[in-house]
Amino acid sequence: MIEKINGLRRRIEEFVPTTASEVEELRIAVLGKNGEINALMEEFRTVAPEMKREVGQALNAVKTLATERIAELKESCGENSKTPSPSAADLTRPGTNDALGSRHPVSVVMGEVCDIFARLGYTIADGPEIEDDWHVFTALNFPPEHPARDMQDTFFIEKNPDILLRTHTSSIQARAMQTQKPPIRVICPGRVFRNEAISARSHCMFHQVEGLYVDKNVSFADLKQSVLYFAKEFFGERAAIRLRPSYFPFTEPSAEVDVSCQLCGGAGCNVCKHTGWLEIMGCGMVDPAVLDACGIDSREYSGFAFGMGIERTAMLKYGIRDIRLLFENDVRFLQQFESA
Ligand code: PHE
Repeated sequence: MIEKINGLRRRIEEFVPTTASEVEELRIAVLGKNGEINALMEEFRTVAPEMKREVGQALNAVKTLATERIAELKESCGENSKTPSPSAADLTRPGTNDALGSRHPVSVVMGEVCDIFARLGYTIADGPEIEDDWHVFTALNFPPEHPARDMQDTFFIEKNPDILLRTHTSSIQARAMQTQKPPIRVICPGRVFRNEAISARSHCMFHQVEGLYVDKNVSFADLKQSVLYFAKEFFGERAAIRLRPSYFPFTEPSAEVDVSCQLCGGAGCNVCKHTGWLEIMGCGMVDPAVLDACGIDSREYSGFAFGMGIERTAMLKYGIRDIRLLFENDVRFLQQFESA
């Protein structure tokens, strides 16, 4: 019987498993109800009295060894093991990649636009999303009866007509002019809100980046050159721009900026509606009345401002046809921008 016990001990000591289930098989075979140890215990009853002491000790020792060794092997082969035994690790197995998140295309484009203007010496300015009428409209030369103040465009907070969700980030520019002295160069990224029906082309919440430059002798030529620099940096060296006369209450003269269509190279396609041009932003020379309202002497200083919608710009850059995709947070859509 001593022979059998020693044999079992050697088998346990030499056992080298490769998987956790092999350890479990060993446990059942040795320590299980119908396992070898129990069988030996049964046999022990028949051992001659003078041998009982020696055999009993050997049997107890092998039981302790089996229990400890199996617990140890389970630990090293188990999924949660911190220190896998060398024999348990399959070094040829391919590694698993951790799932990494990625930036939202709106954040990517917003960051890119801010970076480009940062290279021209602009600094980022911030302001509240819940604003007062003065910073969003009055300071920016909107007459009291202007339709943009209407309930159709603006979300008011409760019944107070003075507190509202900003409809453009120009309100940040008004704040910058109040608190800074020229030269002022600020870029104002942020979320804006308009009471518009949600469709493939418009949303009631979107993002803008607006910019403002105020100094002595700032001219329309400076504005045009800055916008051209931006278009070439953002869309590529071959991008061309054109300015069309437009109207904003806070700029005079005002213009709408078009960039040559990147998809057809200006030849005309569906996206540019066969014109070869895509509208990217509004801009103009800051109206002297706005400078004065914000505490800057318009006889001494002049400035220009521009503003663009980020979703629109992202849609143009990536060929996205429906603005709603940008807000649905469908990971299958977002994963396409992982490398952006
Ligand atoms: N604030 C304008 C808008 O919301 C954009 C703009 C900014 C136009 C600055 C001209 C100058 O559409």
